[in-house]
Amino acid sequence: MAALPVPAGPRQPIVAAELTAEQYRAIWLRNVYSRPPGDWPPPVVDPSVKWVELGLRPAMKHPTENPYSEEKAKLGRQLFFDPRLSGSKKITCATCHSPDSGWAIDWKTSFGSDPGVIGRNPPGLLNSGFSTHFFWDGRADSLEEQARKAILNREEMDATEKLVTRRLQDVAEYREKFKRIFGADRITLGDVAKALATFERTLVGGESRFDAFLKGNTIALSDEAVFGLHLFRTKAGCMNCHYGPNFSDNQFHDLGLSYFGRKLEDLGRYYVTGRPADVGRFKTPTLRNVARTAPYMHNGRFHLKGVLKMHNAGMPTLRRKEHQKDDPLFPTKSPLLRPLNLTNTELHDLKAFLESLSEPGLL
Ligand code: HEC
Ligand code: HEC
Repeated sequence: MAALPVPAGPRQPIVAAELTAEQYRAIWLRNVYSRPPGDWPPPVVDPSVKWVELGLRPAMKHPTENPYSEEKAKLGRQLFFDPRLSGSKKITCATCHSPDSGWAIDWKTSFGSDPGVIGRNPPGLLNSGFSTHFFWDGRADSLEEQARKAILNREEMDATEKLVTRRLQDVAEYREKFKRIFGADRITLGDVAKALATFERTLVGGESRFDAFLKGNTIALSDEAVFGLHLFRTKAGCMNCHYGPNFSDNQFHDLGLSYFGRKLEDLGRYYVTGRPADVGRFKTPTLRNVARTAPYMHNGRFHLKGVLKMHNAGMPTLRRKEHQKDDPLFPTKSPLLRPLNLTNTELHDLKAFLESLSEPGLL
């Protein structure tokens, strides 16, 4: 019998005929991103940006002025859920930073102690120990300072120092715990804040699918999420601001959402520094757990799809009205933003990547 004819030319691998170009790309990108982050292709960012690669979170650092102890963290947790810390005695920190919603809240904007007062969306608290500035405008430089302000802030607990310390002092259990932990007979707002901050630094979620992928589980991300990761670092330009293990540069940017001169006006960082250049700038939030902390942006007016669509359009650009012609406070949108021309599929992939950043073990 004659031998079967061997086809001429180099042999093609059998899979070649069966894979689409898209599937090839998925395999190739997965291979690229399965290497350690240091070997990933460089991100597409403006030369002025001092980016740091995405990666696993380091261990949480506790400040030397407020070292960690388990008992202190437990006390902080108890205080976090205690309505004695609110002016009205009706709400707790968890009312607006609920463990079920990524330690944020599902409402458009939280109601505050006085409905109508609040204009800002409560951020999720997971990983907030990795931030260097707190509040959307960064008016607190530590979690301790933030916790003090949260108790006094009208938008949060709306209490006074006297009210809170007196109420706690009246409870024997608190008196004993504070004495044991801080060694003082009188409970101070500073020590309340220290306990709360210590607890907040323990709010680190478990391993997200992205973290598992970084640790070498190369199937922890779907193809879409791998595409999304690549887009995030390249064409979509997100790494201009959302970089490093916590997806934030800890800086402030104007994304065109100050509503300058309009009803919902919020000038952000400008309230803290008084610098005209800071008008409309807000803190870059972490994107870890972002799928859990809807709604979004400082004013809580957007959903995830909306945020992505706005980014795709380069974010809103405000135009000066006649009477604003020479207004030195007229905000300037960040030059790091531009229209992205992402297709609907690419926006879907980007969203799939963001969804892979959710961490289990929230409680
Ligand atoms: C009524 C709702 C509400 C309550 C109650 C509340 N917060 Fe907040 N929290 C907010 C809002 C709104 C913001 C953002 C305010 C801003 O940026 O000006 C915020 C911001 C924060 C931040 C800053 C996070 C970041 O990344 O910048 C921390 C931390 C925080 N709150 C902790 C607490 C603690 C601790 C308590 C209890 C003592 C508390 N909050 C009670 C609504 C609330
Ligand atoms: C110029 C810096 C910058 C770039 C580039 C940027 N962001 Fe942001 N991002 C921010 C800032 C600042 C905010 C908060 C803005 C505000 O509240 O007004 C934010 C908010 C967000 C939020 C809402 C998070 C929350 O908790 O409310 C999401 C989601 C987000 N960005 C995703 C992205 C994605 C995806 C990209 C890439 C397409 C991107 N960002 C590019 C700075 C940036």
